[in-house]
Amino acid sequence: MSNQREHWGSKAGFILAAAGSAIGLGNIWKFPYIAGENGGAAFIFVYLICIALIGLPVLIAEILIGRTTQRNPVGAFKKLSGKPFWIIIGSIGVMAGFIILSFYTVIAGWSIGYIVEALKGSFSQFADPKVSSDYFNNLVGNAGWVLSYHTLFSLLTMGVVYAGVNKGIENGSKIMMPVLFILLIILVIRGITLPGAEKGLAFFWSPDWSKITGQSVLIALGHAFFTISLGMGAMMTYGSYLSDKDNIPIASLQIVFLDTLIALLAGIAIFTSVFAMGQDPAVGPGLIFHTLPVVFAKMPGGVIFAVLFFLLLTLAALTSAISLLEVVVAYFVDERKWPRHKAVIVFGFVTLLIGVPSALSFNVMSDVLFFGHTWFDNADFLASNILLPGGGLFISIFVGWVWGFDKVYIELKKGSETLFEKHPRIILGWKIFLKYVSPVMIMIVFLHSIGLLESAILQIRTNWVMISLIVTVIYLFINLKMRNNK
Ligand code: PHE
Repeated sequence: MSNQREHWGSKAGFILAAAGSAIGLGNIWKFPYIAGENGGAAFIFVYLICIALIGLPVLIAEILIGRTTQRNPVGAFKKLSGKPFWIIIGSIGVMAGFIILSFYTVIAGWSIGYIVEALKGSFSQFADPKVSSDYFNNLVGNAGWVLSYHTLFSLLTMGVVYAGVNKGIENGSKIMMPVLFILLIILVIRGITLPGAEKGLAFFWSPDWSKITGQSVLIALGHAFFTISLGMGAMMTYGSYLSDKDNIPIASLQIVFLDTLIALLAGIAIFTSVFAMGQDPAVGPGLIFHTLPVVFAKMPGGVIFAVLFFLLLTLAALTSAISLLEVVVAYFVDERKWPRHKAVIVFGFVTLLIGVPSALSFNVMSDVLFFGHTWFDNADFLASNILLPGGGLFISIFVGWVWGFDKVYIELKKGSETLFEKHPRIILGWKIFLKYVSPVMIMIVFLHSIGLLESAILQIRTNWVMISLIVTVIYLFINLKMRNNK
């Protein structure tokens, strides 16, 4: 089976595809607004520390599991451990792929919708943010609008994954990622040459330490997971198409570097424009959809820049969405022996359908609440605050404590012999971060999620999460003990 498995055609192909997975709505839509709300430069500093201390070590671990086993998350844990507990952890990753994809395509759909709005010239009438936000609310309040673009984006995602790892994901990323980079550079230049742009730069680069609280540190930590696509096996699956020749630590560093670079560039492009146009940087999640159309309306050549911006957002979201669908597809291809095409079509449509209640959460189902929140909020909460940090925690525990470091070293050394020989301390540092620093810090993020849960959601749900956490930890310890006693 494994010799029929597709592999990346080149090193650059893998890096671009993995960076494509990492770079998405998280960088261009989420990162600028949370940085804006949490003190700009000071928040970015904390976020960079989280990326380096947790993101990078866990990314190396995830890709390593994938390459070693040449399998999807479930198959990977089956091959390395075989214990039901770890197979369940892998299955939760596949499930997380479904859930994230189902709501991710909704926001990405808005982005396609905004390309069309920009082309129609709708933004030219936006004199102030109020008109723009009413317009946005009107659009997402229309179930037909949201559903059509959600469907269109899902079909695009299916199309790329259908074409396969080389022809679809690798070739698609090779075209889309450089285009995205060029578009972003154009927007950065446009932003910093606007009169008044220096206020945006100052906001972005001069730290306001007073805004850094325990809460914002935890937000930075949580975002580190989402933005590097960590904790659910997307990077594991992409790693499964790697061969032993590739240097995993260096590739991981490059992926993290590109992801961070794009987030920072997006921040510069957005904040210079926002400040130059005298807008409020801290409006929250609506920042790009509410505020940027007003910015574009007042900008010379605004229509072109608006089209470019939303095209960029759509491409970035597409290269992430394909990695989410690929996790699910790889599972059915590897474990259930389904033909790839069948898996793409069946599960593409299943996620499209699971996404329908998310799409309707902004209109006809906005009053239908589960645990006090819309379907969309629940899906996002479950994935970002529970499944990803939980997955990351278990991946670092698995590689740090369960797999056995002698075996881990043998696998990691493949393709990175020089690094092992010349810089053994870097490898030792990775081991320490993976075994101690990452799990402890991830635990904090996780507990924080539960804290949020307690204040925001029904007590009953809190108890369930607490009970499952306690049971999981006890099970894990028993598991470890039995292993050690053998
Ligand atoms: N990293 C993607 C982003 O920043 C989101 C994502 C999360 C993709 C998890 C795959 C897996 O938008």
